Amino acid sequence: MEDIKQKASNVLMHTYNLIQISLVSGEGCYVKDSEGKEYLDFIAGIAVNTLGYNYPAFNAAVKKQVDRIIHYSNLFFNEEQIELADKLVKNSHFDKAFFCNSGTEAVEAALKLAKKIGKTKKKGAWKIIAMDQSFHGRTSGSLSLTGQKKYQSPFIPLMPGVSFAEFNNFEDFKQQVDSETCAVIIEPVQGEGGIYPADIEYLKKVRDLCTKENITLIFDEVQSGIGRTGFLFAHEYFNVFPDIICLAKGLGGGLPIGAILATDKFSQFEPGDHAATFGGNPLVCTGANVVLTELLDNKLLEHTKKVGLYLKNKLDNLKKRSDLIIEVRGLGLMMGIELNTNISDIISGCREKGLLLVGAGSTVIRFVPPLIITEEEIDKALNILESVISNSK
Ligand SMILES: Cc1ncc(COP(=O)(O)O)c(C=O)c1O
Repeated sequence: MEDIKQKASNVLMHTYNLIQISLVSGEGCYVKDSEGKEYLDFIAGIAVNTLGYNYPAFNAAVKKQVDRIIHYSNLFFNEEQIELADKLVKNSHFDKAFFCNSGTEAVEAALKLAKKIGKTKKKGAWKIIAMDQSFHGRTSGSLSLTGQKKYQSPFIPLMPGVSFAEFNNFEDFKQQVDSETCAVIIEPVQGEGGIYPADIEYLKKVRDLCTKENITLIFDEVQSGIGRTGFLFAHEYFNVFPDIICLAKGLGGGLPIGAILATDKFSQFEPGDHAATFGGNPLVCTGANVVLTELLDNKLLEHTKKVGLYLKNKLDNLKKRSDLIIEVRGLGLMMGIELNTNISDIISGCREKGLLLVGAGSTVIRFVPPLIITEEEIDKALNILESVISNSK
């Protein structure tokens, strides 16, 4: 361990405060470190490993695709990509897909698309409204939309024309709209900002105003999409439908893929407007196709809804027994507990006892396990959490 620690600090830029564990294998919802210690994983690659680890159908399809062809380019038909786009549009109100490699790239694509629509269909409108405490990524455009000073400060000035509204405050949003507003971007469930679901009435009002004022409504479902909330897309729960959606994380089940989907009216990219060399290559799309098959055809969505409710009830009960927990929030398997104590001590205490958890903001512990998690595994995780919480009083 000392050896790898030294090597890491010699050769890697210090962009992460690394946890001193080297993970070497995974099975189901468990991972093992290089010393053979097993952990129940409620991080899941930060809401990425939809099917957990070593999922037979996923591994078999991806291995087969590796032997057929991994990558060519988006200059050719790509049957796996077309199949994936077809699955996504058939199971949503969207009509078209564009594929890239990550969440931040999906946001960049949505941003460019909305700007193009503003330019061509709304007399050059170019301004964008984003939300306080949002998180949309770390590239220049997506960072400009991320409403958290700690991420933006070192890189200011960022992209002009972005203003921030208080999340779930319709009047604040409305006041910022003017004739030059081309788009608004919202996470229906804020993730990194601390697991805050939107109010249904708020989203409905935003939707109505966007339609009336010809503003493109973008939902960033990079974290909340692809079954995480028990719905294929979180906006189905709210019954509010955006013009463009950003996806990534869980879509590839661990393989790097991002996407935007848009309705026909908003699918205004033309050749040359946007591209991604690796975007949606046959390998990542093969993995994503298995993820969608499991969610849609093999009842993983129903399972997620059921175990998500189970997790919420368990957390609500734990809150009744612990005065360190201030609030339980979230949807499906995207849950958070807000604590009035140091969350990093609780998280490292859980890790020592074999449970991996991650924070969201400085006061919230996040629960984003693989969607295949069972009630027994939830019981096990919460028993560990409760023992750590009660010892930290
Ligand atoms: C809502 C949301 N959007 C965008 C991103 C950026 O995704 P990526 O890290 O894949 O670039 C994240 C990452 O946490 C996210 O939660």
